Amino acid sequence: MAMVRQDHNMGGTMLTEHISEVERQYYYMEQCHSWIKTQEEKLGRPLTASVITFGCQMNARDSEKLTGILEKIGYTIIESEKADFVIYNTCTVRENANLRVYGRLGQMKHIKKNNPGMMIALCGCMMQEPEVVEKLKKSYRHVDVIFGTHNIFKFAELIYRRITEGQMIIDIWKDTDQIVEDLPNDRKYPFKTGINIMFGCNNFCSYCIVPYVRGRERSRSPKDIIEEVKELSEKGYKEITLLGQNVNSYLRTEKEKNISFEEYEGVNSFATLLRAINKIEGIERIRFVSPHPKDFTDDVIEAIRDCEKVCKLIHLPLQSGSTQVLKVMNRKYTKEQYLNLVEKMKKNIPNLTLSTDIIVGFPGETEEDFEDTLDVVKKVKFEQVFMFIYSRRVGTPGDKMENQVPEEIKHKRFDRLKALVESQIAERNKEYVGTIQKILIEGKSKNNDEMLTGRTDSNKVVIIQGNDDLIGKVLSVEIVSEHMWYLKGKTEKE
Ligand code: 5AD
Ligand code: SF4
Repeated sequence: MAMVRQDHNMGGTMLTEHISEVERQYYYMEQCHSWIKTQEEKLGRPLTASVITFGCQMNARDSEKLTGILEKIGYTIIESEKADFVIYNTCTVRENANLRVYGRLGQMKHIKKNNPGMMIALCGCMMQEPEVVEKLKKSYRHVDVIFGTHNIFKFAELIYRRITEGQMIIDIWKDTDQIVEDLPNDRKYPFKTGINIMFGCNNFCSYCIVPYVRGRERSRSPKDIIEEVKELSEKGYKEITLLGQNVNSYLRTEKEKNISFEEYEGVNSFATLLRAINKIEGIERIRFVSPHPKDFTDDVIEAIRDCEKVCKLIHLPLQSGSTQVLKVMNRKYTKEQYLNLVEKMKKNIPNLTLSTDIIVGFPGETEEDFEDTLDVVKKVKFEQVFMFIYSRRVGTPGDKMENQVPEEIKHKRFDRLKALVESQIAERNKEYVGTIQKILIEGKSKNNDEMLTGRTDSNKVVIIQGNDDLIGKVLSVEIVSEHMWYLKGKTEKE
């Protein structure tokens, strides 16, 4: 990705040569590093930074990249918002997420008063909405840096511009075909991590803002992904989650638009990518989120069946069980097609479990439509259901529909769905008792310091007794009891 660029005058040096974007960014990291060292000498203490993440696993992964850059330029990472640099990586999939950010920014105004040298940055999906940026410019002048989802690799450069230009820096790109990886990043756990395989979404489900804020689909090259996984396995990572808004249309845009890509180890589709990663030694578990039911082709089902490392919990977003609602949602499948797909998957993949996303109260949803959703939930018996109340998003077709469902009805339906899901989970939990499950130990239990917590292949939380040296290991445990949100297990030694 060589480029010629006439840029800002950076302390007398002009960046005008042919350099890669990665090199450019390392240059800015060095510049910021020197500035931070000077500040630290002046203040006689280290400068701290904090990254606050809202939203999905894509955002969590982006935050690891942001943290990596902050560390590289010399900040000490802490978990408090009383840091010298605070960045909010935002989500805008539902309105609630936006409201929370505005609330936090309001509080930050007071915190910044006590630490005038402090910098506040905002990035992520919410920043891709022009109305949000207008509002920030008008009413949240204490924000220092604003950027979106397409240029997070420019983080160091934007911080540098803030330092040198001394005013609010806003850099939002509408879309991009650039994929810039190879920058510092700080993965949260040393044993499990996410890997981006594709970015963006072309589906335009009528409730969803993602295609507007994450741009069009583009895939990372097979070689880059495979090499990244190999590197991670060498470092001791056991579980990887392949990330994308639409993972099973990996490389589809490239094929449709005749964009050349290099096949690597036979990878030219999502199914072949699963097969190639399955061969990488050291990796024990492969997960992926999120696939789209309409793109769940037979080759993907066969790859899941054949690849022993691919977890048999598959996330298959339903959204609604009503064919009529699905049509208006622009999901491109019917209730029957979804159920047939589930049947086919269950028949072909031994030990398959399913999780899903469901939206309640989409415009025009009638009692009958909602009952179709309950019907699908009863039939499929999901392992996990992420339930959402429909939230109007400006710019999406759903927001313009006149037959919005009243809040009260939405909430009542949500509660009915929740009750059904919880009763199914309670039933399902009982089936685990007495079974042997492989779990990846993730750390100490949040609620009980003496216990460790891990997850099964089907993503159930299991608590066991054990020493910290088990963290990051895959163990076989017997499930001895079940509780609503976790299972209790014991190792053979106990
Ligand atoms: N309202 C409620 N839920 C939504 N989702 C996406 N857009 C909306 C919206 N406008 C849900 C979908 C998606 C998940 C990530 O968020 O279920 O799968
Ligand atoms: Fe949103 Fe639909 Fe794309 Fe998922 S597939 S990100 S729900 S538009």
